[in-house]
Order: sequence, then C-alpha cells, then structure tokens
Amino acid sequence: MMRRQLQAPPTVCVVPGDDAAPEVVRPTAELLSLLVSEIRFQEAICGREAQAQYGTPFPAETRQAIDSADCTLFGASGGPSRPILWYLRWGKGTFVNVRPVKWMPGYQSPMLHPERIDYVIARDNLEGMYPPREGDIAELAALTSSSTWFQAPPVEKAGAYALKVSTDEQMQRLAQFSCELALERQSAGYPGKVTLGAKYSIQPRTDGRFRTIVRDAVQQHESLSYQEYLVDDMARRLVATPEALDVVVLGNEHGDILADAASGTIGGLGLSPSACYGESYAYFEPVHGSAPDIAGKGIINPTAMLLSGAMMLDYLGYTEQADMLETAIADTYREGNVLPVDQGGSASTTDFIAAVKTHLP
Ligand code: NAD
Ligand code: IPM
Ligand code: MN
Repeated sequence: MMRRQLQAPPTVCVVPGDDAAPEVVRPTAELLSLLVSEIRFQEAICGREAQAQYGTPFPAETRQAIDSADCTLFGASGGPSRPILWYLRWGKGTFVNVRPVKWMPGYQSPMLHPERIDYVIARDNLEGMYPPREGDIAELAALTSSSTWFQAPPVEKAGAYALKVSTDEQMQRLAQFSCELALERQSAGYPGKVTLGAKYSIQPRTDGRFRTIVRDAVQQHESLSYQEYLVDDMARRLVATPEALDVVVLGNEHGDILADAASGTIGGLGLSPSACYGESYAYFEPVHGSAPDIAGKGIINPTAMLLSGAMMLDYLGYTEQADMLETAIADTYREGNVLPVDQGGSASTTDFIAAVKTHLP
C-alpha cells in the first residue's frame, strides 16, 4: 500500500463524526492505542460540537490536526461533519476507497453459502457524480446545438441537471492501484483477477473510457486476468457468484451503492470497513453512515470501525497488531457468545469491545 514518510512515532487524527459514530470511534481509538501504545491519537472537534464552540463545523484547529497527522480515523458524517469528509476526500486527494467484502464465521449473512465471499471493492473516491455539481437545466443552453446528443437537454423546461466527470489522471491511478492491489492479493493466494463494473453501454465517453483504461492497465500484467460487466449485471453477480470476485473496480456512485449491497451479503453495515488512500494521505472510515436511528442507544456494532482501524494499523506498518485485532474479532464471532444486536445478539457496543479485548494476546 502506498504510504508517505511517516512521523516517528506516528500521529493519528481522530474525527468522531456525527450521531452514533463517536460511540464506535472513541473506543476504537482506545483499543488501537492499547495494541500500539506509541501511536499518538489526537481527537479533533467536529460537527455540532464544533458549531456550538467555534461557530463552524470544521474549525481551523481540526484542519490543522488532520494536516499534521499521518492519517485520520473518521467516524461518519450525518450532515454536520460533511465539510470535514469533503476535505478528507478532495482536500487530501484520497483517490481510492478500498472496501473489503469478507464474510467471517458468526456473521449473520442472509446468503446460503457466505463462506464464498472474500473480495475487495476499489471505488473511485473523487470523481464521477461527486463532488455534487448541480444546476438548473437552463444553464445548459449553450450546449443544445451540439450534434453529439441523442437528445439535447430540454432547456425550455424547468428542471435540474447533475454532472458526471471522469479525468484520465484519476481513472489511470485508480486502474493502477487496482492492479497493484490484485498483485498484492495474488501473492497471498488470491487469483489475481480485476473485475470492472460500469455503464459503458450507455456512457461510452466516461464509463467507456474507464473500461479501456482499466482493461489496458490490467493487460500490462501477465499474471492478472480481466473481466468486465455492465454494472447492473455486476450487482446481480455480487449476490449470485461472489466467489468469482477478487478486486472489483467501480466508479464513485456505483461503488457507493454496490458496497452497501455487498455489505448486505455478509451480514450488514455493522461489519464493513474501508480505507481511503491518496498519494500523500490516507483516512479510514467504515462503509456505514452515522446511524442516527440508533444514536445514544449504545448498540451500534463497532466491528466495521474496528476493522477500519486494523486497516489503519496495516497502513502505519503495524501489520502484526492489525492481524491480532482481526483475529480477535474473528474469534469473538466464531465463539458467538457475545454478539452485537445487529448480528442477532444482545451485547452493547461496550460489551462487544470488551469481548474482543479478551481475545487479544
Ligand atoms: P447508515 O449507514 O448510517 O445506516 C443505515 C442503517 O444501517 C440504519 O438502520 C443504521 O442503524 C444501520 N447501521 C449502520 N451502521 C451500523 C452499525 N455499525 N451497527 C448497527 N447498525 C448500523 O445510512 P443512512 O441511514 O442512509 O445515513 C445516515 C447518515 O449517514 C446520512 O446523513 C448519510 O449521508 C450519512 N453517511 C455518511 C457516510 C460517511 O460519512 N462516510 C457514509 C454513509 C452515510
Ligand atoms: C459513503 C457515503 C458518502 C458517499 C456520503 C456521506 C457523501 O455514502 O462514504 O459511502 O456517498 O460517498
Ligand atoms: Mn455510502
């Protein structure tokens, strides 16, 4: 994994996020510091609390804490902390969002054979329909004379548009990263397969270009194989034949949607971690959001956040401790005595984390 020169000892900025997110972020940072005591964790104020104290959800102090850290552990934004999420993505250029989809014994999957599920989604984290760029249809008036449209934008009608943008630079680095990830996984016994999901049939200029770029990049590597599917068919394949997947490359909005669907196949959002990497920065957040419907109840499943923390330890070079944490989580689920509420148990967030701790050496 790409990694800039780290400080010694490494510093991690902790941004708790909104709603129920702090309930998993804070105990995760605490558990990580038990595992690697030399890491310096610095919590930064965000969201509603920052608004009340500084008059802004993203104070300069928080930005400085993010900038001066080696990476950030981020909860989730339920709205108030969104400017911080935007900064972590576009401000820090974290171009790829890696979302592993792996079932472990004890996860309450709705699938008949969940043991087949073990792949990784590499999602564009910067472009496509993001960041939101929308406007009134009337603003497209200058484009109506173009002969490239099947149908010119109906600028005489009231309505709105949204832009989808794909640069060669971004598609190339996402393709390159996906190849490197597939090679890295191959050396650990995975098949070395890159599968693209995109709507190249309908959007040949954007997704068609993405398809060519990813295919060409994969073909540079003799040991890797390449497959491509229209993204709607890809959605079915995540459910019907997940065992055929290794590294799945997706555009931003497709990756957003399919990562939640994929999470559903292993047992839900409480279980799905992610890592966002850039050329010179990284941040780690679960796939799930701020879970406002269960905020304050003490029952949010911390597994996704803990596993994101393990990905962070790996990034910081503490691979042994990352493995120890993953194994402790796997052991807790395998035993099945202490399970979070979303996994059919009755353990609180705190109880589950305590159980994981007992499985650490
Ligand atoms: P969500 O992921 O927050 O929640 C969806 C459902 O899954 C809810 O019922 C929730 O209780 C449950 N859930 C999620 N995580 C869980 C966990 N760890 N343990 C147990 N149950 C869990 O999605 P949403 O409700 O669509 O969005 C809520 C807010 O979060 C929105 O403002 C959305 O924009 C935001 N969001 C932020 C991020 C991010 O910051 N990266 C990601 C996704 C959604
Ligand atoms: C995610 C979230 C975000 C996204 C939102 C909060 C902007 O759903 O990280 O999956 O759409 O990328
Ligand atoms: Mn999402």
